[in-house]
Amino acid sequence: MAPTWTDFRTLLAGERLPAAVVDLDALDRNVDRIRGALEGTGKRLRVGSKSVRHVGLLRRILERGGPAFRGIMGFTAEECAFLANEGFDDLLVAYPTVQPLALEALARAAAAGRTVWAMADSLAHLEAIGQAGRAAGVELRAVAELDVSYRRAGGHVHLGVRRSPLREPGQVLELARAAARIDGVRLAGLMAYEAHIAGFPDKSPFSPAMNRVSRTLKRISIPDVARLRAAAVELLAREGFALELVNGGGTGSVQSTAAEACVTEVTVGSGFVCSHIFDYFESIDCEPAAFFALEACRVSDPGFVTCHGGGYVASGTPSWEKLPLPWLPAGLTYLPNEGAGEVQTPLKLPAGAPPIHLGDPVIFRHAKAGELAERFTEYLLVREGRVVGREPTYRGQGQCFL
Ligand SMILES: Cc1ncc(COP(=O)(O)O)c(C=O)c1O
Repeated sequence: MAPTWTDFRTLLAGERLPAAVVDLDALDRNVDRIRGALEGTGKRLRVGSKSVRHVGLLRRILERGGPAFRGIMGFTAEECAFLANEGFDDLLVAYPTVQPLALEALARAAAAGRTVWAMADSLAHLEAIGQAGRAAGVELRAVAELDVSYRRAGGHVHLGVRRSPLREPGQVLELARAAARIDGVRLAGLMAYEAHIAGFPDKSPFSPAMNRVSRTLKRISIPDVARLRAAAVELLAREGFALELVNGGGTGSVQSTAAEACVTEVTVGSGFVCSHIFDYFESIDCEPAAFFALEACRVSDPGFVTCHGGGYVASGTPSWEKLPLPWLPAGLTYLPNEGAGEVQTPLKLPAGAPPIHLGDPVIFRHAKAGELAERFTEYLLVREGRVVGREPTYRGQGQCFL
């Protein structure tokens, strides 16, 4: 059962505010749902750590997910090296870098026996990876990223994100051939992230006019993405490049990506804690598991309450949906001229709201799953309505990767 405001007031009594809370029961149910969506597909699940950023939660997700949940998709090489030290294995860095220090850290993890993967979409990436591999005396695995955004009219229409310049299977083949000429690196995998399917809401109350566009774009794009990914894998196989993994997907595309025969694994991050942006997808079934609580610190006028802090606005295009969602008590709304403030966030109470006393916690959900962890040094862990533990976020462990 989802915690009510009364539940939050009880469990947070005596806690310092602001506080971040993770409902482990809800987290477990989200893991079970996502595992259920993959059941029978034969695909494995790689946990997207950027949407968690908390070692304790990453461990719990992998453990509960069982044998199909294997490995982490990290967001920097240094983060993956850190996770290797924490005992994790099979660490794929999903975003490329040419920074020697970062790649050296990753190569050290490989030399210590961990399976690691570095992203590449250009010769410069491969050369940097190869150099780090040679210096550490290992051959590093590179993963080529194929762009699968929706493109027409020679690139004049580009719907999706701008990531890799590799858009044709032939370009991936060229990259694989280039890797074969560089010591210290080999092309071992392919990743194609269909952000315009997995990451674009299609039932958003914030931009209702875009919902139909988003649904149409997804319907048209899903077969296109599948064809392109399959063509790249087939071409590489024909030319003798055996891939150890073919990665795709995100929380918003688990079913469609897992249905592709050539895909070996699907990444999911946000769906585990279910930040509020993921409420606005038709294909997603997850429940809120992460929250933060601010202190109700003053009342400026009848019908209003002001919270201490709260400006934890998510990255990406600026819009109202990037603000935290006031969650409990239900019906609280932002003031259009203030939004979520740096040090104070005034909210308007709905008619019939329960009285909020000074010192009470007001509960919010972050728009993005991982970014909450950058604002707190620890998460309070809750089971059956009680705080059963507190464990550090990356920040709490002194780590700030991006
Ligand atoms: C490469 C890649 N894969 C998968 C994802 C999906 O992550 P999530 O499940 O948190 O939406 C992302 C998110 O940006 C990504 O960049």
